[in-house]
Amino acid sequence: MATVNPFYANLPGNYLFAEIARRVKEYTVGHPDNKLIRLGIGDVTQPLVPAVIAALEKAVREQADAATFMGYGPEQGYAFLRETVASACYAGLGIGADDIFISDGAKCDIGNFQELFAADARVAITDPVYPVYADSNVMAGRTGALGDDGRFRGLVYLPCTAANGFVPELPKERVDIIYLCYPNNPTGTVLTKAQLAEWVKYARENDSVIFFDAAYEAFITSADVPHSIYEIDGARDVAVEFRSYSKSAGFTGLRCGYAVVPPGVAGVGPDGKRVALRDMWNRRQTTKYNGCPYIVQRAAEAVHTAEGRKQCQAVIDIYLKNAALIREAFLGLGLTVAGGVDAPYVWVTLPGGMDSWSFFDALLNRAEIVGTPGAGFGPSGEGYFRLTGFGNPAQTVEAVDRLKKFQM
Ligand code: MLT
Repeated sequence: MATVNPFYANLPGNYLFAEIARRVKEYTVGHPDNKLIRLGIGDVTQPLVPAVIAALEKAVREQADAATFMGYGPEQGYAFLRETVASACYAGLGIGADDIFISDGAKCDIGNFQELFAADARVAITDPVYPVYADSNVMAGRTGALGDDGRFRGLVYLPCTAANGFVPELPKERVDIIYLCYPNNPTGTVLTKAQLAEWVKYARENDSVIFFDAAYEAFITSADVPHSIYEIDGARDVAVEFRSYSKSAGFTGLRCGYAVVPPGVAGVGPDGKRVALRDMWNRRQTTKYNGCPYIVQRAAEAVHTAEGRKQCQAVIDIYLKNAALIREAFLGLGLTVAGGVDAPYVWVTLPGGMDSWSFFDALLNRAEIVGTPGAGFGPSGEGYFRLTGFGNPAQTVEAVDRLKKFQM
């Protein structure tokens, strides 16, 4: 038999959201009449907006006519969408259409991008963290085994807890790659422009590359919170940015996102020479990826029209209102809460050092609400719990009612 990739053996048993789905399934089998409210995985519940549906319908009809039918598209995405993204999202930030690589979502891009780096690259992640950052590096053999403290020996952890206001400190050692996600998943917290500038400065001084996950930028409501890392001077030489239509336009099922890779971001090749990551990513994508479907890219383009923007904003407002309700419910219970203002996620500190999987089970069994245990996002997530604002509004109101009555 062929030997398999040994590094998969270092992964935790199940991907977090697969484990949650397993527990929920077990519960529903035992309780067929359940009234479960799912506020666990950050999946959207509102339908695609009319502007997107109209673009999809038109693009589908084009496929029925030989004159407008589309076969393989460019691996980097169609020029119409790359140009639209550059002008709609990055005007004045020095980002051009050639820097935009359209894909089937930010999860794949951010999971794949580490492939461009050597096996011994030193990686820093915030803790708690979106599990894809850690797990994709585990699969690549970059992390070593999981220690008894729940940390991979080869990863640098940057704790984000109530003690530091959920703001990570700069690494004490030099690292090659830093994963940052702002607005943050799972804590729902943000970095100000000045705080993000510290990271860009660190990356420039240490020749590091920042993987900036901006999947939730559409939820920012506060002033002075950057929507893109390229709002920070110098970031174009050290940062790659990932964005998604999943949460901003309801594409979790449709699938579309993009990576922004400016030509100045580089690493060093085996001959000691500078290698632009944009060229490497282009090589990687043209080899392993055949492009996001044409009809989906037309749908994404419609998000940036005046109508599309307005309609998507109305949906984002629904999710932010849900998040505010959840936030207020927890505050009303006397608990400490982060997030839910510039992000769809509400991050609550559990009372009395309660462990997060026990709280998950209690909330599931006694209130029929599905959330996400903080420990699933990393060791510093223990003692915290996440609920999402992506629920259906009526169900969120019902969940809030149940939360208010919940005996901790
Ligand atoms: C989450 O719940 O953290 C997200 O939905 C996961 C994702 O975007 O893949």
